[in-house]
Amino acid sequence: MTVLSSEFSKELLDKVREETPGVNTSLHLDNCGSALMPGPVINALEQHLAQEIYHGGYVAQAQQFEALEGAYGAIAALLGAQRDEMALTGSAVEAWAKAFYSIPFQDGDNLVTAFNEYCSNFVSFLQQARRHGVEIRVARAGPDGELDLDHLASLIDSRTRVVAVAQVPSSSGQLNPVHEIGRITRERGVLYLLDACQAVGQMPVNVDDIGCDMLTGTSRKFLRGPRGVGYLYVKKEILSELDPVFLSNQAAEWVGDYDYKLRTDAGVFEDWERSVVNQLGFGAAVRYLQAIGPERCYKRTQAIANNLRSRLYSIPGVIPTCPQNAPAAIITFNKEGLDAMEVKVRLAQQGINVQVASVVHTRLDLDARGIATTVRVSPHYYNADDEIDRFLSAVEALKT
Ligand SMILES: Cc1ncc(COP(=O)(O)O)c(C=O)c1O
Repeated sequence: MTVLSSEFSKELLDKVREETPGVNTSLHLDNCGSALMPGPVINALEQHLAQEIYHGGYVAQAQQFEALEGAYGAIAALLGAQRDEMALTGSAVEAWAKAFYSIPFQDGDNLVTAFNEYCSNFVSFLQQARRHGVEIRVARAGPDGELDLDHLASLIDSRTRVVAVAQVPSSSGQLNPVHEIGRITRERGVLYLLDACQAVGQMPVNVDDIGCDMLTGTSRKFLRGPRGVGYLYVKKEILSELDPVFLSNQAAEWVGDYDYKLRTDAGVFEDWERSVVNQLGFGAAVRYLQAIGPERCYKRTQAIANNLRSRLYSIPGVIPTCPQNAPAAIITFNKEGLDAMEVKVRLAQQGINVQVASVVHTRLDLDARGIATTVRVSPHYYNADDEIDRFLSAVEALKT
């Protein structure tokens, strides 16, 4: 079955696959883990690494000042943000933690999150609960398995310091209603921290449309950039409400023997030291997506995911572990009589890359649904239709 459309033609698919050397060695269906990089990203990495090898890191960086600035401009444009509202970090978790721990919590405050929140974010909530007595309020899933917005709204009160949710959770294809949450947080005047790690690159994301105050993401997943880069958006108007959890020589200038001056832009969350190689590769990845068109990529990714999901779930012995109607390109399942890790290993022996998600990633959600581990498969727009066919045949052929 073909899921090409007039918008994403065979010519375009052939081109993006030609530009992706990894498709010749793997059938890669772990794009929500770490995707395959396209040629322009690989070129940016290789070229700058060569400059560092022959000229040293600082000389190489100075030569690439504009390109590095271009990486900030590119991610700002993709998200509908301003350049000075963007900080680059070493990972999405680092970006998220820098934002979250800079919220000045006081005893008696509470925070509101969702039942499918990511592990790293949740352990940070738990630490702030222990340190400051912050109450963690979790919005539940409704009968349809989706986030219950009325419940979320009812949890917000005058002591709520932040609503923090993930747009697409790590271990299921759910899509949290981030725009509706934005309307609620704006109405109630509460900070909104959005973990868009699995959304950016998979679907168009615009900070103004959503109405979030802070947003975090990574380079290596659906954006198809290199590892080791994360980013943080902080809306200009709320920057003064945050008290940066720690300072670096990039974040603040040492202006007098006993005095420092804070930066007044999102760079206050940055460090001086960085992988310029990776940040340039990240910039190239964002530009690559922009050149093809985020909406066009999203439509194709959605079409492939829907096709894969419905065919996968009709294979005898396949146990769906995504909530019903989960629409995102993260599809989870188990195969009767086989451990999730066994499935991953057996598929890897055939050159098929999938991942295992476990209860420790999104504990509240998976535990409530009795799932300890599950196979996680995440296609992207560059996957070919015959790759999906091959994957499905391989799953069907797996026997205990
Ligand atoms: C929803 C979500 N948030 C955050 C992260 C962490 O991103 P990183 O490992 O780049 O810090 C992940 C990674 O899987 C994720 O799925």
